Amino acid sequence: MAIRNIREIGDEVLTKRCKEVTEITPRIKELIEDMLETMYEANGVGLAAPQVGILKRIVVIDTTGEDPHILINPRIVESSGEQTGQEGCLSVPGKSGQVTRPNYVKAVAMDVNMKSFELEGTELLARAICHELDHLDGHLYVEKVEGELQDVKHDEEDEDEE
Ligand code: NI
Repeated sequence: MAIRNIREIGDEVLTKRCKEVTEITPRIKELIEDMLETMYEANGVGLAAPQVGILKRIVVIDTTGEDPHILINPRIVESSGEQTGQEGCLSVPGKSGQVTRPNYVKAVAMDVNMKSFELEGTELLARAICHELDHLDGHLYVEKVEGELQDVKHDEEDEDEE
């Protein structure tokens, strides 16, 4: 396993649409392990493959620090409600902004055995699913920010960055 370099806003790789994963190769498994390690090391709650420079439809999410979700080729099949709150991104360091997202989402994805599963989430998990899936289509939360991006104080930086 290895920590990978996190790409930052302005890097073109973050604006591209990612490709579906068709086969779980040893290289994909290694990528997923590295994404988890990189997310935890950066105190993030989610990370998408393009954030480490790989244009594949893979995201990892862990909003509690002990419940990692690996989603391959994920898509949102249901959403409802609304939540407005602060959001950050490991690719936009030191910033946060207010974004409105659904309060509930259900995603369908493949696991590392290419088996389909559902992941339902509310509140932070719903927000993280929406945020990470946006990355797979080349979108950053800054496009959705209501008002201005804010500077995050240093002691808050380890909270909720995706
Ligand atoms: Ni992000």
